[in-house]
Parts: sequence; C-alpha cells; structure tokens
Amino acid sequence: MKVNGTPMRTIWLNDDGWSVDIIDQTIFPFCFEIVTLRSVPDCARAITDMLVRGAPLIGATAAYGMALAMRKDASDAGLSSAYEVLHATRPTAINLKWALDRMRAVLLCLPQNQREAAAYTEAARLCDDDVAVNSAIGDHGLELIKAIAKTKTAGEPVNILTHCNAGWLATVDWGTATSPIYKAHDLGLNVHVWVDETRPRNQGDALTAWELNQHGVPHHVIVDNAGGHLMQHGKVDLVIVGTDRTCANGDVCNKIGTYLKALAAHDNNIPFYVTLPSSTIDFSLNDGVQIPIEERDGSEVSHVLGRAEDGTVLKVQLTPDGSPLANPAFDVTPARLVTGLITERGIVAADTAALAALFPERAGQAH
Ligand code: MRU
Repeated sequence: MKVNGTPMRTIWLNDDGWSVDIIDQTIFPFCFEIVTLRSVPDCARAITDMLVRGAPLIGATAAYGMALAMRKDASDAGLSSAYEVLHATRPTAINLKWALDRMRAVLLCLPQNQREAAAYTEAARLCDDDVAVNSAIGDHGLELIKAIAKTKTAGEPVNILTHCNAGWLATVDWGTATSPIYKAHDLGLNVHVWVDETRPRNQGDALTAWELNQHGVPHHVIVDNAGGHLMQHGKVDLVIVGTDRTCANGDVCNKIGTYLKALAAHDNNIPFYVTLPSSTIDFSLNDGVQIPIEERDGSEVSHVLGRAEDGTVLKVQLTPDGSPLANPAFDVTPARLVTGLITERGIVAADTAALAALFPERAGQAH
C-alpha cells in the first residue's frame, strides 16, 4: 500500500543489507517511525511489545529473526536457541510457529557456512509469499463485495464492518480483511467501512482507520459496542475479519470481541466472513477451545494512549487505582457462526471437510 503516496511494505531489509526495518505500531496514529532490528532479542522484543503485530507480520518478523540469528551463530545450537526465543514471544497466532518451522526446515539440512545466506533468501521469499497470498484473498473476497454492490441502488455503498487490524499493518502488504476492500475501492466500487475501535489496544482506530485514510477508503470509526445496533438497522452488509489461528474444524480465533460481532451478525442474518491465509490454519487442532489465549498486561485495560489538545502524546489512566484488571486478548468464534473462509485458494465453508479438501497436502498434519 502507499504511505503518503509511496508504495511500502511493513518489513524490509535495511540498506546495510543485513538488518531489518519495521514500522513501530505502538505509537500509531500519532507518529510514524521506522525501527531497525539487528538481533534475535530485537525481533523478540518487537513482537512481544507489539511494535509489530498481526499474525502474518509476526511470522515475517520471526523469519527475519532467524536470518539475524544465522548471521551471529549458524550452529544447530544457535538455530534452536533462536527458534525457542522467538517462539516464546506470543502464544496465539500460529503463523509464528509456521514461519519458524519453515525457516528451520530449510536451514537444518544445510551446512553451517550456507545458512546465513539461505535464511535471508527464505525470509524474503516468505514475505513475498505473504503478499501474493493476501492479494489472492483480496481477489476472492472482491467477488463477494461485487455481488452485494449489484443489489444496491445508485450511490448506496456496500457497508463492511471489520474488527481489530487485519490490514496492511498486520501483514507484509495488502492485509487480509482489508485486501478485498482495497481491491473493491481501487475498482471504483462504492465501499464504506465501519471500523471497530477494538479495545483495549485500539488496533481499529489507531491502525485500520489510519490505513483507510491513507488509501482514501470511506469509513467511520465506531466504539466496539455499536456494531449490533448498526446491524439491526440495516447498516452492515458484510462483516470481514482476520484470524490468528483457525482450527481444522473451522473454529476461528481472532482479537477479543470478534465472537460478539459474529453473534450479532448471526442474529441479523448478515454474512460473517473470515480472511484466512493458509499459514493461519492449525490442522493439529480440531476445536477452538484448545487454542492458547494470550492474557496480556492489565495496563492495556487501565490506560490508553492519546493526544492531548496541546499536541502532546501521552498515556492516561481510565480505571480507579486498585481495581483488578483482566485482559484476555483473543476469543474463539465457533465455525457455526462463520459464513465462509476466504483463503488464497478460494472461499470455503468453515468445516473440517471443506478445509481438508482445499488444503489436502496439509490436512491431518501436526502444524
Ligand atoms: O494482538 P494483535 O494486534 O496481534 O491481534 C491481531 C489480530 O487479531 C488480527 O485480526 C489477526 O492477526 C489477523 S491479521 C491479518
């Protein structure tokens, strides 16, 4: 996507040819700062502290973390220590393990003196693959938007609700949930997006709204509780969200609050689609209750980042001193509430048979 008119990805090799540049997402939408990662601990911190976040971008950052590891110590011990450190950063998004496994499989069968170059090549390939996959998801999702657009009278937009940020900033490029939206907008279709703010970290209002602004896509930011009301009043045609891990049976884990949107969509007969790169499918799990749900620090609930009237960016406290805080970061939407999964190979039902038929080479495998 373009940032201030210039095409950019969210992760790239620095001009020095070995370190890795990312965009610090913790200070959005107030500042746009590029951060350089030079080591495995740098990459691990960037993932844990959410300078990078979103399932596909977490995987891409971990892949480059392995390349940085091979630069320092290409031994088997160096490889497995980097794998462990990076794997421990965040528990829910399965793309992390997928990317680390892909890197390890390539590197382990090479002699040590070839590992560094191969790791950089493979990390770059993984990023290119992510871009191609998300673009294909956009092409398939576009057909859904086109079909709804045909039912509209002139001037009426297709209203799409999305939760969290499953956009450009969550991937290497395009986004997953936003990819069909960007494609529809670029084609001249009249699309309008309802952007859930997505408490507690506000990935919707800080990240998705920023992206849509950059790309010129019409949207409104709404509080998380507004979705049901808008659905009851015919103001939502389609819900599109991303996912951090989808089980073999089609249960979808995504940012906390997604389940409530799926329930409201179900009650109002509104299609609820999940954009799903195949790297996010965990064929080793048959039930969403098995997915580890990240419990994040309570300070994300008690405090928010904002800009004061004098322009100062500051963190302010919302809750009384001493109130206990709970912060589950993800929830699981059961497959029965999902209208369909938009993958790079096409749109399928959220069920075991459909997913296995679409990805026969992966079905039945441990992730
Ligand atoms: O905690 P985050 O910001 O990493 O959570 C991100 C999400 O839940 C996204 O919706 C998901 O990773 C899909 S991104 C293509």
